[in-house]
Amino acid sequence: MKAHRSMTVTVVAATVLACSGAFAHADSTTARDDFRTLCAECHNADAKGNGPLAANLTKVPPDLTRIKQRAHGTFDRKAVYDWILGLKMTQSHGTREMPVWGDWLMDEAMDGGTSLAEAKAAEKQVEHQVMGIVRYIESLQIED
Ligand code: HEC
Repeated sequence: MKAHRSMTVTVVAATVLACSGAFAHADSTTARDDFRTLCAECHNADAKGNGPLAANLTKVPPDLTRIKQRAHGTFDRKAVYDWILGLKMTQSHGTREMPVWGDWLMDEAMDGGTSLAEAKAAEKQVEHQVMGIVRYIESLQIED
């Protein structure tokens, strides 16, 4: 059951990316570019949640500039990181609409490689990439 569900999300992620037609320059992109490529379709380029795909979702993509405000002044980097990778599933029950990025980013980073060394290197690369996105989101937090 679990495996089946994550397959579905992977397919959704792939579709979203196919539509955005981007990610060709993964290696040279900054966190901001990653955000524009992977996240802006739903969360919008300014991260406020009203991206072009938002209307097709049943859940409203949250305003990512107010994560800290919603958590009463704390920005939990680890929670955001885990959420993006798919390590932390929905707070409430129900299905997650946001793609699970972990597997997809790993596949990208592996680039067809199959060895353990390649997998370890890919894992490091994904960690770095996602931490970059988390820091980028943190830099957008509205204080008031
Ligand atoms: C297909 C649309 C879609 C894409 C693409 C997407 N998200 Fe989301 N995101 C959502 C939705 C919808 C939610 C609300 C929770 C859910 O999925 O059920 C959400 C929730 C979140 C949350 C939780 C916010 C909170 O307040 O708890 C974070 C953080 C987040 N997204 C970051 C990202 C990042 C970073 C990316 C790009 C790597 C991304 N999202 C790409 C739709 C998307």
